[in-house]
Amino acid sequence: MNGKGLPYDSEEMNNILAYMQWLSIGVPTGVSVKGRGFGPLDQKLKPDANHGKQVFSEKCASCHGAGGEGVKLPTDAYIFPPLWGSNSFNDGAGMARTYTAAAFVKHNMPLNQGGTLTDQEAVDVAEYFTHQPRPVYPGKLRDWPKGDKPKDARS
Ligand code: HEC
Repeated sequence: MNGKGLPYDSEEMNNILAYMQWLSIGVPTGVSVKGRGFGPLDQKLKPDANHGKQVFSEKCASCHGAGGEGVKLPTDAYIFPPLWGSNSFNDGAGMARTYTAAAFVKHNMPLNQGGTLTDQEAVDVAEYFTHQPRPVYPGKLRDWPKGDKPKDARS
């Protein structure tokens, strides 16, 4: 979400298309696949960023870094992705929205312990990390042309 578009005829584009095709092997067309999407989360919960900060340092910082900077391997590739800062996803990403991020976190994080946070903890920690500094995506101003911008979309 925060990179440059791949040239259509590049090796990388071919590789990613081959990977997507491989993922689709044996998957029927037009049906929702198990594991797709994030699952439900109560959007009426009010976020508490201070409590979220505490959840982050107790349950997330060990992998994502105390400053959300992630952890890199000696090869310079990330083993744990940054959650904010210049190498993180930008503010136009779905992951920068409190309730979208909370649903992802609730069902998938901490790694291999999805479903262990309460909905409230997920909303609080999501409010905290989504509102840290991150790259700005100018195109987001055109994201909701019909004016149906969700309450947690970043402006
Ligand atoms: C044991 C290590 C570990 C812990 C603890 C952990 N994560 Fe993660 N997290 C990961 C890894 C690895 C990924 C990348 C997963 C992937 O790409 O499939 C990830 C991905 C993410 C992403 C997606 C980032 C992106 O760029 O899309 C978010 C958001 C996230 N984690 C939030 C959290 C939160 C919030 C917590 C604490 C409640 C947490 N994580 C705890 C290892 C961890």
